Amino acid sequence: MCGLFGTRGHPEVASSVIKGLQDLSYRGYDSWGIALQSGQELHVVRDIGLVPESPQLPTISSSLAIGHTRWSTHGEPTIANAHPHTSVDGKIAVVHNGIINNYQSLKDSLPHISFKSDTDTEVVAHLLDEACKGGLSLTEALRQVASRLSGRFALLVIDSRDDCLLAYRQGSPVVAGTDGTRQWIASDTFALSRCCEEGIYLEDEQLLVADATGMHLYNGSGESIPIHAEPISSQSSAHKKEGYDHFMRQEMDEQAAVIHRTTQAWDREQPLLPMPFVQNLKRIIILGCGTSWHAGLVAEYWLENLAKIPVEVEYASEFRYRDPLIYSNDCIIAISQSGETADTNAAVSVAKEKGATVIALCNTPGSTLTRMADTVCPTHAGMEIGVASTKAFTTQLTVLYQIALWLAERKNLLNSNSCDEKHLALRQVPEAVKKALKADSEIKAIAADYQHHNNALYLGRGLHFPIALEGALKLKEVSYVHAEGYPAAEMKHGPIALIDEEMPVVVIAIQDHTYEKVLANIAEIKARRGKVIAIGLAGDEHLRSQCDHMIAVPALPTELLPFVTVVPLQLLAYHIAVYRDCNIDKPRNLAKSVTVE
Ligand code: G6P
Repeated sequence: MCGLFGTRGHPEVASSVIKGLQDLSYRGYDSWGIALQSGQELHVVRDIGLVPESPQLPTISSSLAIGHTRWSTHGEPTIANAHPHTSVDGKIAVVHNGIINNYQSLKDSLPHISFKSDTDTEVVAHLLDEACKGGLSLTEALRQVASRLSGRFALLVIDSRDDCLLAYRQGSPVVAGTDGTRQWIASDTFALSRCCEEGIYLEDEQLLVADATGMHLYNGSGESIPIHAEPISSQSSAHKKEGYDHFMRQEMDEQAAVIHRTTQAWDREQPLLPMPFVQNLKRIIILGCGTSWHAGLVAEYWLENLAKIPVEVEYASEFRYRDPLIYSNDCIIAISQSGETADTNAAVSVAKEKGATVIALCNTPGSTLTRMADTVCPTHAGMEIGVASTKAFTTQLTVLYQIALWLAERKNLLNSNSCDEKHLALRQVPEAVKKALKADSEIKAIAADYQHHNNALYLGRGLHFPIALEGALKLKEVSYVHAEGYPAAEMKHGPIALIDEEMPVVVIAIQDHTYEKVLANIAEIKARRGKVIAIGLAGDEHLRSQCDHMIAVPALPTELLPFVTVVPLQLLAYHIAVYRDCNIDKPRNLAKSVTVE
């Protein structure tokens, strides 16, 4: 996992790398490092923690540098394990994103070298050094060494004696740009967008060389291949905390606007899938991880109820490894905010190899997922900085609901009037989300009461079961409180044993066909002295009388209520985390995009 940034050909390489790493810190932030070339020497600075605003760097002139922001896989977040890693003589420096599966056997092949770190990366620096000492150029050494590595990875390499920057891709993203004289290479277009307007996306087994003569691209056999650059959109302006203490809180407030934008951007006439395919469509498989998987679980109800298509929602990581049965009339919907989640992308590769048609729901234009899919449905959430996803989730719901309507209309299950009505109802969601956000201070007061509890249970039924899972995930992620989401009816099959006066239970109790049953669950909790925080419809005074706290959400058509029941759960997690003095936007051990399997 991790973020890579390298640049050459100009005097500001140090500040350019530091800014690049700051943009990439969503990929990991437990340690960072930079290697600067100057006067045939490499100067390496590494430290633990997030890359600082203005780090102390040597005052040297340099026009070639690589940097790294880390999420530990092999070895604790220590300075010794931080990248760049160097050869024994310090002449070659390497930064790496991904995992080298066979690093141990490669290490064993170098018994004469005393390794300085526990990483899977350091071996690459030593292997390159051996290959160069054997007479290979750095480029040829990288090509040969990379062919010996197994796993998914991206590498940037520099040598103190060469004015060139090398990149290699095998499964992990690399994108490069140039303005003619200056060159930049990064893990994503977001980091690149402040430097240049076009990006060159490397494919697997490609090696890119940036030197004084320009950029040169080679395939796995070492043959020179043409370079194709694509426009990249600038996203940096969205990267500001507009008077908020935390991005997560700002992003919650942005939800109304971005849901609106996502409905506006939806083209009902778009050819999402070819009509013959829709007529034969037998099954939809939804793939995702974390919050994106929860969005898929909500969509399962919409797609089955509205479009009458059987749906399976799978953790991408599990799907991939169980040799799934996939037929040519299956459609895969892959959901990912970042488009760089390794498990999701690997699952999509498996599905594509088996002939599936893939729709990607993604918030990051140009990401690996969007480049693999047959059709891309963008979520228009804008850059999401907080690791705990909020606005990306509700825009994913927005697109998924519109996909369900699109399919229902094409299958003649909804006539165009009913479809119009449902689209109109969806347009009410932003206003309802705004109203739901107004419970902020009330929720803050509830959070004050529960800030010291170390466990919580979240219950919901039907469409609100995935919302219960999402609420529990939000609390875990940002406040480090142990929380579990359950279908309310399952409580009696185990979790009820946990209930006592110390256990807060958040129950989503909406007046739908399961309402009476959920009220019975609340009674069972109260009978065991559990504390109930209910999420219910405004005006439901009976519910209020049955629980310790009730947070009201505004009415919407029943099938759209997940848009508003999730909002108080986001706010509750946020306020508890603030009381517990947690790192809200960059919680410990997490990363915004998990680029390793
Ligand atoms: C990480 C993040 C989660 C996110 C998940 C999937 O685990 O911490 O917040 O939901 O990745 O990310 P994606 O970018 O694929 O939606």
